[in-house]
Amino acid sequence: MTVSEFSCAGIELALFRYPKQQESNLQAWDAADEHLIKHLVETAHIPANTAILNDNFGALQCGLTRLDNTWPLWIETDAKTSLLGAEYNLSANELAPTNISRLNSREQLPNDIKLVIVKLPKNLTYFTQQLQRLSQVLAEGTQILISAKAKNINKSLLGLIEQNLGPASASLTWKKTRIITCTADGIKRSLLKEVSWPVKEFNLTINNFSNVFAANKLDIGARIMLDNMPEGAFKTIIDLGCGNGILGLRAAQLYPQAHIHFVDDSEMAIASSQYNWEANGLNHDQGHFHWDDCLTHLDENVSADLVLCNPPFHQGEAITDHIAWQMFLDAKRRLATGGILHVVGNRHLSYHIKLKRIFKNCTTIASNGKFVILQATK
Ligand SMILES: C[S@@+](CC[C@H](N)C(=O)[O-])C[C@H]1O[C@@H](n2cnc3c(N)ncnc32)[C@H](O)[C@@H]1O
Repeated sequence: MTVSEFSCAGIELALFRYPKQQESNLQAWDAADEHLIKHLVETAHIPANTAILNDNFGALQCGLTRLDNTWPLWIETDAKTSLLGAEYNLSANELAPTNISRLNSREQLPNDIKLVIVKLPKNLTYFTQQLQRLSQVLAEGTQILISAKAKNINKSLLGLIEQNLGPASASLTWKKTRIITCTADGIKRSLLKEVSWPVKEFNLTINNFSNVFAANKLDIGARIMLDNMPEGAFKTIIDLGCGNGILGLRAAQLYPQAHIHFVDDSEMAIASSQYNWEANGLNHDQGHFHWDDCLTHLDENVSADLVLCNPPFHQGEAITDHIAWQMFLDAKRRLATGGILHVVGNRHLSYHIKLKRIFKNCTTIASNGKFVILQATK
């Protein structure tokens, strides 16, 4: 477990990454968080309705609540792990969340926001949409502070912000980070349309909201998975880390009697999966959609005979295998005896070692130069 002591501008916090038990030496906050807190303290911002976007594990909301526990905050996140991590850190630092309202990245922000604080996300299409959403609610003159690594700030990023929200300029560099100050111009922009593409051989159309994995084409790991789906009369299937839902959609075609549970950390992934389920004319009653960290909150009555999984190997910018571990452990817990975990992975990730440790068995179903399909039976 990694706890890091955050100490900046007189604010002291103990912050954890989420999930808390992950074995990594990564911190729950970074210099871009510190820079924002330092800036807010130095400029003596008066607590007023503030929106915080992309606060990884809650350093910003904990910091502002520690500064003044009446500071009204609207926290927007697409990642369930971020939401759970922030709630954990508020409680670990004995900060009551009475000032905090939460929303996901598709819900409407209130229109009386006086200040916006943003951590620049990795996905610039998602960021563009966040700017457009802000343009729809922010009054002219509202200040937006965007913090990022200095190396990620350039003319084209400033141009993107200007085009979608208002004029912007960047601060000097501090600890290799800079803060961009943007002033909303009060002009409402329309939102990017979700990207849509066909998977012709399976007669499926896929729509992706802006923060969903595999933005505009089928992932190559998913492709191999689709070519090697298991045979069986499966009744309850989990698409674990479903993204746009491609594996679960194909499963619904192959095993029409099955109930399919789509699970993802990204709310936009769950929304895309549900949209795709309906747009591809699948049976309404048999699709179930869960915004969750792996299978943490899945109803205990769900017992699966097949789990399909194309695991992520990073969390935000950090390369990590702890999510794959947690997915495999959760899959084992939720499989019925004799149930199958069907996994695709890059060969060099050596998932077979983990699967053998957890299930005591692992079979290679298919492989090519880069990917393997592995199966473990409970
Ligand atoms: C490699 S993508 C696979 C997406 C899709 N199944 C496919 O094959 O195209 C991994 C997915 O896992 C999701 N994910 C990451 N961390 C997660 C977690 N803790 N719990 C559930 N899903 C998670 C990501 O949002 C992403 O959609």
